[in-house]
Amino acid sequence: MNEIKKKILSLKNERNALILAHYYQPLPVQDISDAVGDSFALAKLAQKAEQDTIILCGVRFMAESAKILCPGKTVYLPSESAGCPMADMVTPEDVLELKRRYPDAAVVCYVNSSAAVKAVSDICCTSSSAEKIVRSIPNRQIIFVPDKNLGAYVAKKVPEKEIILFDGFCPIHDAVSLSDAAAAKQALPDAKLLAHPECRPEVLSQADYIGSTAGILDYARSSSAQKFIVGTETGVCEILKRELPGKTIVPVKENFVCPDMKKTSLEDVLACLEGRRNPIELPENELLGARASLERMVDIE
Ligand code: 13P
Ligand code: SF4
Repeated sequence: MNEIKKKILSLKNERNALILAHYYQPLPVQDISDAVGDSFALAKLAQKAEQDTIILCGVRFMAESAKILCPGKTVYLPSESAGCPMADMVTPEDVLELKRRYPDAAVVCYVNSSAAVKAVSDICCTSSSAEKIVRSIPNRQIIFVPDKNLGAYVAKKVPEKEIILFDGFCPIHDAVSLSDAAAAKQALPDAKLLAHPECRPEVLSQADYIGSTAGILDYARSSSAQKFIVGTETGVCEILKRELPGKTIVPVKENFVCPDMKKTSLEDVLACLEGRRNPIELPENELLGARASLERMVDIE
């Protein structure tokens, strides 16, 4: 084991810290983590954590969610500039304006959003819980922010609800075109296309399976198919290639990379453990409001 890994593992025990990583994180970061998961799993693991310190290897909204669910703990985001461009597309003012226009609607907010946006929403969801959350709400009208692609996917699944979409999207997933999906399928005709619901509707229409990062991994792990086209960030492809060396695993398009997710280094994780990073701090009003929305989500599962 190299020096930095040894230091991280021994300091992690000394500091009573839990290291969590998203599936899009660089593999060396996933390898030193206590658990790896999709956004929903990470939120639940943070909520149940017994450790005093949580190091969330991912992007800002993930570390903020951990802090919101565990306000008494010290939560670090190793790469402090790692954000989510989709989360930055919606503001609390946008949500309040939609609420004024649709006073009977409930607001469902994708966790890929700021704490301030969560605080003015009724309930949060992740890609793996969105359908269930929307079904659980008594209101017929639902304002869904910020991801129009995930919102449109849920609207198709739950036609009895009127879903009011916001014009946000993930620049990484939304960049996959129908022709990318068609070309990948033509090159590998007997492969299963597994897509994340942040992809455009026309891409999802070509998919054999649609689900969160964890859902895509589970599908490929348990399927008897031999070939898979992965319609999400390259981290999922890398995990599958390593786990299933006998199977053919290709990305739906080249350079399917979330640059923010790739910012975390082992040095950044060590910096958290050595007190060289600032823990996540949120204003009390955002913390309280966002906690209600996130806890409602976690309680539904
Ligand atoms: P998951 O909840 O599926 O892990 O997705 C998070 C994300 O940021 C997808 O781009
Ligand atoms: Fe945000 Fe897209 Fe990156 Fe996920 S892949 S963190 S939605 S920018």
